[in-house]
Amino acid sequence: MTLNPALDLTYTVDALVPHATHRVATVAERPGGKGLNVAGVLHTLGEPVLATGLLGGATGRRVTELLAAVGVPASFVAIAGETRRTVAVADRHDATGFWEPGPRVTTAEWDSLLAHLRDLLAEADVLTLSGSLPPGVPEDGYAVLIRLARDAGVPVVLDAGGEALRQGLAAGPDLAKPNAAELASLAPDARPADVLAHGARSVVVSRGPEGLLALAGDDAWQAVPPEAVTGNPTGAGDACVAALARGLRDGTAWPGLLADAVALSAAAVSAPVAGTVDADAYRRFRPAVTVTALQG
Ligand SMILES: Nc1ncnc2c1ncn2[C@@H]1O[C@H](COP(=O)(O)OP(=O)(O)OP(=O)(O)O)[C@@H](O)[C@H]1O
Ligand SMILES: [Mg+2]
Repeated sequence: MTLNPALDLTYTVDALVPHATHRVATVAERPGGKGLNVAGVLHTLGEPVLATGLLGGATGRRVTELLAAVGVPASFVAIAGETRRTVAVADRHDATGFWEPGPRVTTAEWDSLLAHLRDLLAEADVLTLSGSLPPGVPEDGYAVLIRLARDAGVPVVLDAGGEALRQGLAAGPDLAKPNAAELASLAPDARPADVLAHGARSVVVSRGPEGLLALAGDDAWQAVPPEAVTGNPTGAGDACVAALARGLRDGTAWPGLLADAVALSAAAVSAPVAGTVDADAYRRFRPAVTVTALQG
């Protein structure tokens, strides 16, 4: 589920100079949004997925076309507003981003999304909720979606930060996947146990190159990548969510689940395009991840 997807545009220029006009060497377009990355990664692994959320306008249609081109099945609710674009301008040194806010979602559109999700849940084994809430969606939006999934007996992975995370946790997602900054958005000194205190049944905190910390009831684990991978870490967390969702569906035991999530997210760092994974790197990393049980 991606409530605030985007068309990601990347302009490549020689050197970015403020207040100057640039000749753009290349323009790349791809479907953007954290849930679309989750769906794309699972599709690459050969898992049956359905990408859903809200899309509108010509930009929304373009996102639909690009998903179809890579073969990711999708069923989005149409909204009147125009889906946002994100523009990254990459030069030889680094990238500079311009993030549009996203269209305002009306109450009627939000109600349509709830009805659509109810239908989809009848066929679903697991639901992932990723990213920010667009303007107009209630702050407890994720809590509402989690309760729908609960009523349908479908486990939920929540990947969000700030108020969307805090209010979502209150509805008791099966698993929350904050990164360090999202954990700190609950409280500056928040610990993984605080995520359980807010309502999640389990938590996996992602810590960049240091890997994962997981808590479920009285059990705790640490999972560490086999090596620090250089590459593009954007979207590594989404690959982590993809692995966790698959493992939740399959009832995989925690150590194996975490090893898989660390290997797949390291393989996302290896792949230069954000939101994709390097399948060879995944196979290489998978047996080399270290998972340690921690004393509670
Ligand atoms: N340099 C790296 N080398 C190996 N593994 C990495 C590296 N960076 C990230 N990872 C793996 O990816 C996981 C997720 O990364 P991170 O904590 O940065 O997620 P995130 O901030 O949610 O990312 P995003 O939201 O952009 O997808 C980490 O827990 C780790 O297992
Ligand atoms: Mg993330």
